[in-house]
Amino acid sequence: MRSAKQRISSALILAVGASMLVGCELPEKNTQVKSIKIGVTLYDQYDAFLSELMEDFNTYAAAKEEETGIAINVEVYNASQSQATQNNQVEAMAQDGCDIICVNLVDRTDPTTVIDLAEKNDIPVIFFNRELVEEDLERWDKLYYVGAKAFESGMMEGQIAAAAFLQDPSVDRNQDGVYQYVVLEGEPGHQDAIVRTEYSVKTLTDQGIRVQKLTEVSGNWEESRGKELTEQALKRYGRRVEVIICNNDAMANGASEAIQEAGRVVGKDICLVGVDGLRSTVTAVRDGNVTGTVLNDYHGQAKKAAEVLMKLVDGEHVETEYLIDHVKISGNGQ
Ligand code: GAL
Ligand code: CA
Repeated sequence: MRSAKQRISSALILAVGASMLVGCELPEKNTQVKSIKIGVTLYDQYDAFLSELMEDFNTYAAAKEEETGIAINVEVYNASQSQATQNNQVEAMAQDGCDIICVNLVDRTDPTTVIDLAEKNDIPVIFFNRELVEEDLERWDKLYYVGAKAFESGMMEGQIAAAAFLQDPSVDRNQDGVYQYVVLEGEPGHQDAIVRTEYSVKTLTDQGIRVQKLTEVSGNWEESRGKELTEQALKRYGRRVEVIICNNDAMANGASEAIQEAGRVVGKDICLVGVDGLRSTVTAVRDGNVTGTVLNDYHGQAKKAAEVLMKLVDGEHVETEYLIDHVKISGNGQ
């Protein structure tokens, strides 16, 4: 088992000296900072997408370190899907003298304790990936959010599925002119799950495709659940399943396994789409085991988080920005 508190950048050494930041006080405009301490708490460190995002975050933080000469010490905590645990971690980070805290909220509707702790200790917070409601973000002026707008990834996912239906008549297995679909939803209440489902299906109907929902079930972003749910759907609806729309790639990877085990063939008798652009899913698209995915620009989100962080260190003004530059990745060049 990995420890809950995991140092991810052992190469980053805290330089101790007179000019080191004390506690959480970031100077107004600082040219003398030698080192900073960043605390990151993840809702679940085993989440596949966040693992890739954190890899990139470390790379960008190391690049910033090189560029600025400031030692960046990053400590990552796993909240293990418990908001109470995450609140304790934020408290520990404050006591530990973190200069900036990056929070991937467990419960995006319940950031109160985190915000109160941050304000009390005057530590800026960069929330990322799990979006809090606007009123919460406005509760203090040192709160920021970095994330993607989900509607675009949902639309692009729908476009990949639509192209498959419109270009290849055999995708309409039962030849009834209707696209029979299954949705594997992410975590209930997550902005990306709600919006991606809505926009992927809406994109199909906007393109004039008649659709019929066979089932819509939550697989909680997990590969193993994606597999189980697909097995169940294929057992229950059999050949009627023409497309499986997954809210993320981990579930699409699971679905792909179940499809192969059921003797079905992506691109021949079923269409399968996801979102995230996980490396494993991009490979599966190339191998023809997933029809397509949409890059949920984790490179851009990690880069932006690192940039916001350095601006805060410099005492610069930062505006919350959304990253919407998604990219479609599909086998048929769509
Ligand atoms: C989504 C991503 C999912 C999962 C989730 C966690 O943006 O597509 O795979 O990582 O965030 O909050
Ligand atoms: Ca059909």
